[in-house]
Amino acid sequence: MADLSELTDQLPAKGLGDDEAFSVLSEQVRTRSAHLGAPDAFAHMDPAPAGIAARLVGLNAEYNQNLLHQDLSPFATEAEARVIVWLAPYFGMTAGHMCGGSTLANLAALWCAREHGATRVIASADAHVSVPKCAQILGLPFEPVTVAENGRMTIDALPELSRAVLVLTAGTTGRGVIDELKIASLKGGTCAGPMWVHVDAAWGGPLRLTKYEDRLSGIERADSIAVSAHKWLFQPKDSALVFFADPTAQEAIAFGSSYLATPNIGVQGSRSAAGIALLGTLLAWGQEGLAKRIETGMAQSEDLARRLQEDRRTELKQFPETGVVNWRSLLRDTETVISELGPVASRTAIEGEPWVRQVAANMHADIDAVWARISRVLGPPD
Ligand SMILES: Cc1ncc(COP(=O)(O)O)c(C=O)c1O
Repeated sequence: MADLSELTDQLPAKGLGDDEAFSVLSEQVRTRSAHLGAPDAFAHMDPAPAGIAARLVGLNAEYNQNLLHQDLSPFATEAEARVIVWLAPYFGMTAGHMCGGSTLANLAALWCAREHGATRVIASADAHVSVPKCAQILGLPFEPVTVAENGRMTIDALPELSRAVLVLTAGTTGRGVIDELKIASLKGGTCAGPMWVHVDAAWGGPLRLTKYEDRLSGIERADSIAVSAHKWLFQPKDSALVFFADPTAQEAIAFGSSYLATPNIGVQGSRSAAGIALLGTLLAWGQEGLAKRIETGMAQSEDLARRLQEDRRTELKQFPETGVVNWRSLLRDTETVISELGPVASRTAIEGEPWVRQVAANMHADIDAVWARISRVLGPPD
């Protein structure tokens, strides 16, 4: 079979055999996927993964370990526990578990908050869509807070917080902005403080392991934190972490059953041994190797922002705080620019207007190649 156009509408009765099926599909994957590690790719929060992580995911798939059954997956269980022990202290947390993405990490945290008495979810209007989604799943009202002009949720804008789980975002999806994290210390301060503070650090969280750690000061006062490993920890999907400050907090979202050797913690039942790939990456790179890759991305986003600021063809929305750059052309329609840039850029809407969005997730990016692509689309300067 040459390509997928030869597929029939019905499931074929006879198979092609492994080799031919692999050859047909691998060709499709190679030719019809965005190249996240291309030198000019600076688009979404999706990096090309660490090579060691991709290799370990492949190896692990052969063994198909399941974190639901810890008695059958002793090493995978130990690997995940080690990753939590290594990473939780950077966030001032003590416990946690891995899950298939930060939507699920946010859901586990907000569910836990509800089990501890929270009855409403308050977050910035720029919070990720998963936050109102989780509120709806949990049957809790969602109350969005208007953000300041720079996209940040500030302490002055907060409503009355009693019995709320307050969600702060450390690196908003559209603009990479960090909410005022000192808000986390409101908890326990006054009777009007929130019942629970959750920080959605899906994107920005790994900055805690870099020289930019102070940008997330205050995060250590949270009750729970979500961090995507398939973003700035360079893991293949589906990989995220949810951390808790109180070592016993997640008992509220743990269920035992007669067929389980250990209680099932969190939203997912069966889940992959993503901890092995993350452990492999941390072992291979160490904290310094990880920090170097993230810091290089941060420097590239700052470099790109400066070029956009100085160029008479473009307008920069604001200087990047977590490697997310928003800009537009002063000469050409933004949607046309985005479509001509192709998969090396993405989009976001700010106050109802489209902006180009570029994100420093690609550790193989070459900022001159990124700029050459942008320059070609912008056309000659006058
Ligand atoms: C800030 C933030 N929170 C949560 C999520 C959801 O993560 P996932 O897509 O892994 O479910 C994202 C994804 O982009 C995000 O940017």
